[in-house]
Order: sequence, then structure tokens, then C-alpha cells
Amino acid sequence: MSFAGTDISRATSKSDLYDQLASQLSSLLAGERDLVANAANFSALIFHALPDLNWAGFYFEKDGELVLGPFQGKPACVRIRIGQGVCGAGAAKCETVIVPDVHEFPGHIACDSASNSEIVVPLMKEARLIGVLDLDSPQRARFDQADARGLEGLVRILLSSVKS
Ligand code: SME
Repeated sequence: MSFAGTDISRATSKSDLYDQLASQLSSLLAGERDLVANAANFSALIFHALPDLNWAGFYFEKDGELVLGPFQGKPACVRIRIGQGVCGAGAAKCETVIVPDVHEFPGHIACDSASNSEIVVPLMKEARLIGVLDLDSPQRARFDQADARGLEGLVRILLSSVKS
């Protein structure tokens, strides 16, 4: 398989970048319905295509807590309680959470000391939380509403790829 999935040099804006990523992700996931496999390729694609990330990956809801899934970056904490840290906050609210400075977020869980900002996007299947997408950046205020909308669109592609 030829894979030019990280060539984003022609993106002129964040929305252009996310449009390109959406099209690359759709091709990458086409024909595969396994959630772990598709989440693994998703995290690899965005980790290499989006600038200024030091961690990108998933936690999946299991028995009332979040458990580490496929990711790119340094080893991370395995289990997070719903409501705990940024991931747990996104999971509890079932809403995207943007944290411009993680050092000012009460209860932030520091897995990599390089992280300064973070975004968490919930994964909802038929109104039920199945996990979260988590991105960390060494840059303060790295993530904004354009990232939130773009990442929510990518998550929709992931979720529809595994629909039975
Ligand atoms: N910082 C997260 C923990 C996960 S790592 O960033 C990979 C949090 O506060 O929930």
C-alpha cells in the first residue's frame, strides 16, 4: 500500500489541513472495521501530520474507567477515573475539552512533562461514551476551536468505520 498520509505541505489553513486529513483517514480506514486497528492508524496519522504534538492517542471506557488504547508518544498512565484529569473531564461531560495550559488545570495528570496544552474529544456511540481521543502539545494554547471541530470530524470518520 502506498501511503502518503502525512504530506500536508499544501495545507493553507487549519480547516484545509483537517479536510486533507479527513480524506486521508477515510482512505486509511476503508475496508477495516476493527476499532483497535483503526484507532492505532488514526493516532499514527495525526501524530505525524499535525504539528507540535508530543502525544496522540485513545483511552477506551471499560467498567466505568478509561483504559489506555492505541497511541503515539511516550508511555502513559493506563487507567483514569471518569472525572479525573483532562481525559476524565471530557469523558464525564461527553464534550470536547480544550486546556490552553495544563499546569493551571486542577487534577491534570502529567504523563509526559513536555506537555503544556491538551485537547480531549469524546467518542460517542449512539449517545454512549466509548472512550476519548487525547492530544498533548509542548506548546501552550496549541489547540483552538478549529482543532476541536476538525478532530470531532476525524473521530466521526473513525466511529463510522467500525459501525456494524
Ligand atoms: N493528561 C491527561 C492524561 C493522559 S496523558 O496526557 C497521555 C489527563 O490529565 O487526563
